Amino acid sequence: MRVLVLGSGGREHALCWSIARSPLLRKLWCAPGNAGISQIAECLDLDPCDGGAVVAFCAREGVDLLVVGPEAPLEAGVSDAARAAGIRVFGPSRAAAMLEVSKTFAKEVCLAAKAPTAAHAAFGTPDLAKAYLTERGAPMVVKADGLAAGKGVVVAETTDEGLAAIDAIFDGPGGGAVVMEEKLVGEEASYFVLTDGETVLPLAGAQDHKRAFDGDDGPNTGGMGAYSPAPAFTDAIERRVLAEIVEPVLAEMRARGTPYSGVLYIGLMLTGAGPQVIEFNARFGDPECQCILPRLDTDLLPLLVACADGSLAGQRAAWKDAACLTVVVAARGYPGAYAKGEAIGGITAAEAAEGVTVFHAGTAARDGGIASNGGRVLGVTALGPDIAAARERAYGAVARIDWPGGFHRADIGWRAL
Ligand code: AMP
Ligand code: GLY
Repeated sequence: MRVLVLGSGGREHALCWSIARSPLLRKLWCAPGNAGISQIAECLDLDPCDGGAVVAFCAREGVDLLVVGPEAPLEAGVSDAARAAGIRVFGPSRAAAMLEVSKTFAKEVCLAAKAPTAAHAAFGTPDLAKAYLTERGAPMVVKADGLAAGKGVVVAETTDEGLAAIDAIFDGPGGGAVVMEEKLVGEEASYFVLTDGETVLPLAGAQDHKRAFDGDDGPNTGGMGAYSPAPAFTDAIERRVLAEIVEPVLAEMRARGTPYSGVLYIGLMLTGAGPQVIEFNARFGDPECQCILPRLDTDLLPLLVACADGSLAGQRAAWKDAACLTVVVAARGYPGAYAKGEAIGGITAAEAAEGVTVFHAGTAARDGGIASNGGRVLGVTALGPDIAAARERAYGAVARIDWPGGFHRADIGWRAL
């Protein structure tokens, strides 16, 4: 098969790494990719959000499967443009990706599907939102309604914090509306399923670390590390999430005439009253993907094809009897301003350690070496017999990375240990 992956992060490196192992693969491209991906795929100078350019490339090169990594091309309608051109696509339509793109849409679907989630109200102007907050009082979760790269949410513990968050959202990129939510209390977990719209193939649970610094301190980020499986996400909870959330939400999407296919990411709060939806994403998590795919003991490529073709029934996923943990190494300053173009050494030495793979995120090739080219730069990933062992291997490998301008959390996995 000839496969094109869209995206340039650690998630896309992990997707390419898995696809590259498939005996069915003949040729792999990634647009635009990064320095790590370029070692296993041909990277293209192609805008992943330019549907016309993506379709033209797929038609010219006879691409058998288009895999959409991040959400931006979904929102830009690239999956629809490709499907309309007869190209097989792993990734939901723009209409189905609204589960991620619009928090108010996701809430409506949850309500219709009776999927448990925090009570909410949405407002189109700052004055109405502020009046609601002042009346109800803190704590309150304040969210931008549009995509804000994981940075559009403030859990306001005081009314003043909430008021400031409302102003920031109406002044910022996610701009048009604000969602105000009841604060849920519990442990967070991410859960991933593959679906062709009808059939669900459960993948795995994982736990991310969203804050920048040790002890879950500092600003929210895209994610600083993750592990899978997540001990808090038990088999009993998984069964409840499938029955109470995944199946009814997918049925509701079918009933609306916009069936959801691809990977569905369910962000959960494991509350005393059971699992509740925090958010949906229409893509794999990053860095969760990097610690889930190495555990998969089944060829990923036919599963992606089955999601695209509506033939997931009868497919199975086998898993290694192992845990996996990813430590993100980021540029100092992230998620704020940071430098780019700094030389990074030691990646080969890190990967020489047992069970270790270094997934690149924001990297570029330079002078025969690797240079930093983004906020989250590397995802140092290790498999091990359990989380403690995987963590020890991952941190042993992180210590071999030579990049004074980088930083990482030293406590990835603390919740599980
Ligand atoms: P989201 O972008 O919706 O995933 O929100 C980002 C983060 O904000 C989540 O990972 C949670 O840590 C937190 N959060 C979002 N919604 C809630 C909620 N209703 N209650 C408590 N924390 C929340
Ligand atoms: N790790 C969180 C996300 O991918 O949104």
